Amino acid sequence: MRIGCVKEIKKLEYRVGVTPDHAKAYVKQGHSVYIEKAAGIGSGFSDDEYVQAGALIINDAKSVWDNSEMIIKVKEPLPEEYAFFRSDLILFTYLHLAANKDLLDAMLASGIKGVSYETLTEKDGSLPLLKPMSEIAGRLSVQEGAKYLEKTYGGSGVLLSGVPGVKKGKVVILGAGNVGINACKIAVGMGADVTIMDVNLNSLSHLDDLYGARIQTIASTDHAIEKEVADADLVIGCVLIPGKMAPKIFKKEYLKFMKPGSVIVDVAVDQGGCFETTKVTYHDDPVFIVDGIVHYCVGNMPGAVPRTSTIALNIHTLKYGLQIAKYGLEEACRINAVLYSAINTYDGACTCKNVAEGFAIEYVPAEDKCM
Ligand SMILES: NC(=O)c1ccc[n+]([C@@H]2O[C@H](COP(=O)([O-])OP(=O)(O)OC[C@H]3O[C@@H](n4cnc5c(N)ncnc54)[C@H](O)[C@@H]3O)[C@@H](O)[C@H]2O)c1
Repeated sequence: MRIGCVKEIKKLEYRVGVTPDHAKAYVKQGHSVYIEKAAGIGSGFSDDEYVQAGALIINDAKSVWDNSEMIIKVKEPLPEEYAFFRSDLILFTYLHLAANKDLLDAMLASGIKGVSYETLTEKDGSLPLLKPMSEIAGRLSVQEGAKYLEKTYGGSGVLLSGVPGVKKGKVVILGAGNVGINACKIAVGMGADVTIMDVNLNSLSHLDDLYGARIQTIASTDHAIEKEVADADLVIGCVLIPGKMAPKIFKKEYLKFMKPGSVIVDVAVDQGGCFETTKVTYHDDPVFIVDGIVHYCVGNMPGAVPRTSTIALNIHTLKYGLQIAKYGLEEACRINAVLYSAINTYDGACTCKNVAEGFAIEYVPAEDKCM
């Protein structure tokens, strides 16, 4: 298969879909790999490293899109890239269609085969291609939250760990999935007072077993959230219903009960956000203030640490990418049925149930279309 990887054009996005090591893995299996010039620079990979790996460096994005049978990216395509879509092209990347009707429309109109990282669901229900970025975003969420609590960044001036004789800062984490577990780990490591909430009591039991008395687990209800966030210094929102818009579980009125200069980090912003006051922000201007509360709502948090993020993502995408490249998408799905769960659009149909339901459009199972 001819596999292409273009330079990400989202503002301040430095990750890349294919590393030199993984280009080599595709080449070794007889595939051709086209890399747009300087695509890997932001993650610390030079064009020379790709050439050594057997890839071909192409000067412009259009030629990569036009000459490839599968494009492997990181972020969802931006409007400037929609013109490159075509019905015989496989697009393997994060799509987050639930929050992006324009992209969905462009994909359906073109007939492109949209294979999303974030909905690929393994037999045990896990989301292996969302997980690595969630691990990074979860860890970063506390790091960023701690930074914006500093006075010079507009925060209340609270140090999460406290010091002997002075109270610790309180961190409330909404959602105990991959992001939440990682946020919890770092917040506990920093010595904060940590509360984590979820509707899934099994997830809370797991954390309770791990951390015992060092954290507080609480079943997530409207009333409990309102109560817990009132004295929080940092609230991290990371709930997910796969393929759907995030539920707005943090209401605007809760801001009034919080201490001025407290920080909220909406990690779920890529699925529309779980705070009513969320607006997407970017790394060059990541925060805004509503009712005295600092909001951090960057949709591509792992982009801040592209070297770690690119390597972590590639480790997980390679296995599925190699299957698609070897057999073609349709045959690869027959061999490994979990791949159906990643197909969001195929030949003009929306093949992701939650995305179709969210926009009230027809849903066609990928198994019926992709044969
Ligand atoms: N902004 C970024 O850069 C970035 C990076 C990675 C992941 N994300 C996003 O973070 C979100 C979380 O990802 P994840 O991998 O942790 O997902 P996950 O599926 O592992 O965890 C989500 C958790 O939310 C819980 N949940 C659902 N509804 C809830 C509710 N009403 N109250 C409390 N908990 C609820 C679920 O039970 C689950 O435990 C996703 O939207 C993902 O796309 C964003």
